[in-house]
Amino acid sequence: MSKTIIISNRLPVQLQIDNGKITATPSVGGLATGMKSVHSGGDSLWIGWSGLTDDEIPPGLAPEIDKALAKHGSSKVNLTSEEVDGFYYGFSNRTIWPLFHYFLEYSEFELESWEIYKSVNQKFADAILEKADDDDIIWVHDYQLMLVPQMVREQRPNVSIGFFLHIPFPSYEIFRTLPWRKEVLQGLLGSDLIGFHTYDYERHFLSSVRRLLSLEVSFNDIYMDDRVIKVDSFPMGIDYKKFRDAAKKHDENKAEERSELQKRLDMHKANQPEAKFLLSIDRLDYSKGIAKRLNAFEYFLNKHPEYKEKVRLIILAVPSRSNVPQYQLLKKEIDELVGRINGEFSTVSWTPIWYFYRSMPFENLIDLYTSCDIAWLTPIRDGMNLVAKEYIATRTDKTGVLILSEMAGSANEMNESLLINPNNFEEISEALFQAINMPKEEQQARNAILQKRLERYNVEKWANDFMTSLLNQKQNETQHK
Ligand code: UDP
Ligand code: G6P
Repeated sequence: MSKTIIISNRLPVQLQIDNGKITATPSVGGLATGMKSVHSGGDSLWIGWSGLTDDEIPPGLAPEIDKALAKHGSSKVNLTSEEVDGFYYGFSNRTIWPLFHYFLEYSEFELESWEIYKSVNQKFADAILEKADDDDIIWVHDYQLMLVPQMVREQRPNVSIGFFLHIPFPSYEIFRTLPWRKEVLQGLLGSDLIGFHTYDYERHFLSSVRRLLSLEVSFNDIYMDDRVIKVDSFPMGIDYKKFRDAAKKHDENKAEERSELQKRLDMHKANQPEAKFLLSIDRLDYSKGIAKRLNAFEYFLNKHPEYKEKVRLIILAVPSRSNVPQYQLLKKEIDELVGRINGEFSTVSWTPIWYFYRSMPFENLIDLYTSCDIAWLTPIRDGMNLVAKEYIATRTDKTGVLILSEMAGSANEMNESLLINPNNFEEISEALFQAINMPKEEQQARNAILQKRLERYNVEKWANDFMTSLLNQKQNETQHK
């Protein structure tokens, strides 16, 4: 029987070794949280990096690590610390990530990290080739592994390969600045199907293929040698039921079942029932616009001093890629901003910003989603943004307001939220005012539509649509030959 092989840099869990003991923690980020719900374990295998480098694994512990991963239907690709530096912190996160998010000034073009990116992509391809049979379906994920499809295709010309990009694909004018632009496109074109979150990313990709490789493109089909490659958009959904059910259970929790965080939130609600909680959850990443959001919050408090002591901003910033200098600088900037704004506005009974720099377990995320009146997400550029969808899914009584950047992929499907330009403080300030004062009936009317859509286009539907399209593509191609 054929199986599906999922390949991504991150596995669903990250391993740590503490005093010879292996522990697994869930991976953070949209790819891992979304794909986890699709990965059944039984008829799919997930190949990726365990989070440990070779020199962190004591001799003799490798079999235990394999066992720990096998519990999650996963298998590892071994990386040395030099490879992690060049491939992950280097080319993936100092070249491609900033470039594809339009932070051209942060992109570094270094030949050495490109060479390591290529060799690590080959390692992933070899790991697939070792595990895959000819009738298996291979599903490669994200910008860290863009050369893998072609590397696998060279060895297994007939196998089905799908690729999904979880981040934006930038416009041709940006993409063309990459010295290895043709190699990256050719790597991706080893796939039978290439998927993006939005139609715009798809269009940008097709335009780059046409202009840089001079290939024939008809609608969303690319003709290369004797192959046809299909390109399409598949906006990723969430595991709607998981979030809704967790929120329902949370609503029913008895006092003694409430978490410490929830108790603290409840206490503040009881003391100031009219005060609103604003929520912002992101990985600490410059693409998420966290610093701008803090500046906009200060702008709002100055413009509407009547809301002092009446709003509180809860920021959950999840540590991410902290070996990359831009992320270290951003951390410093945010620490300082939070300190300055709290110093400027705090009163004896009110601290305007609560700032958490850590990742939180799922139950605490649900505490935050269900307790906050407004979710305020202002990425400067974001492939999708699943947090926006998760917030809406947890609003069991349909109250709550989502303020969302129009630069997030999810904005295309969430027109009923308050969409803002993250660079426009005046507009953001008005949206905050509107959100704070929005009548309950209006909140419920907007969220009813959003919830219906999110429930229908959930992550399972997303994966099924992608798989069906991949199988159809393969069938059509075989008939064509
Ligand atoms: N998330 C998490 N732990 C946290 C905070 C967030 O697992 O402490 C999850 C969150 O539930 C969401 C994902 O991380 O599923 C973030 O995905 P999103 O698409 O919003 O952004 P990304 O991090 O992929 O850029
Ligand atoms: C985004 C990317 C994922 C990545 C995640 C977390 O969602 O699209 O590929 O896994 O961020 O980032 P990290 O660098 O920790 O894997």
